[in-house]
Amino acid sequence: QVYRHAAEASRAVAEQIAALIRERASQGRACVLGLATGSTPTGVYAELVRMHQDEGLSFQNVVTFNLDEYFPMQPEGLQSYVRFMREHLFDHVDILAENAHVPDGALDEREVAEYCRQYEAKIAAAGGVDLQLLGVGRTGHIGFNEPGSGKTSRTRLITLDRVTRRDAASDFFGEENVPQRAITMGVGTILDARQVVLMAFGEGKAGIVKQAVEGPISTIVAASFLQEHPNAQFVLDEAAADAL
Ligand code: GLP
Repeated sequence: QVYRHAAEASRAVAEQIAALIRERASQGRACVLGLATGSTPTGVYAELVRMHQDEGLSFQNVVTFNLDEYFPMQPEGLQSYVRFMREHLFDHVDILAENAHVPDGALDEREVAEYCRQYEAKIAAAGGVDLQLLGVGRTGHIGFNEPGSGKTSRTRLITLDRVTRRDAASDFFGEENVPQRAITMGVGTILDARQVVLMAFGEGKAGIVKQAVEGPISTIVAASFLQEHPNAQFVLDEAAADAL
């Protein structure tokens, strides 16, 4: 779907998420959302907060699993995705604290592999992800699945690509301060979601969107694996769709 502006696209995605939350609530069921960080989904979160405040949209039946977190990263760190999610969504809606999951970047390295297995087990125990929201990095990463990430990869510790670290440099006041690694759900974890919505805005994303949508399905561009997903949408503004 191509919208003229990002704001319009964000409203449409927020409507879709709200409809799913309400449908599940009316059935007395949980709604399991996979959530993303970065600048792209902030408009969706702002709209969901508005719907909570103005329309009484409740998040009490919502369970969330975030895609990724820098490693190492303290939860209260300026660039932490825990902090990001609190500021943009969790602190402004009625989600139960125990239902909002973000990978823990503050673990001892020796605990990470087991922690990642447990993260996967928690997703499975929640019934799997109903809707996975995604952005896309300039390397084609979804979550932090950098080039080389396989189709069956699961939640794990990865090494960040140079391009990704450069893109994050301003957030960290210099590339040298960007962590070398991150914990991310795998491509396989993402593909298990029943529905996937990838959002991309702005001319800077046009090249990678073209590769993801029209290019070969390959580990070089993790987002290209979405071509094989039975229910994946790309929600773009006109600038990001420009090369299609
Ligand atoms: C980071 C995040 C990704 C995000 C990407 C793009 O690498 N880990 O989940 O999709 O940035 O960020 P932005 O939406 O700011 O362009």
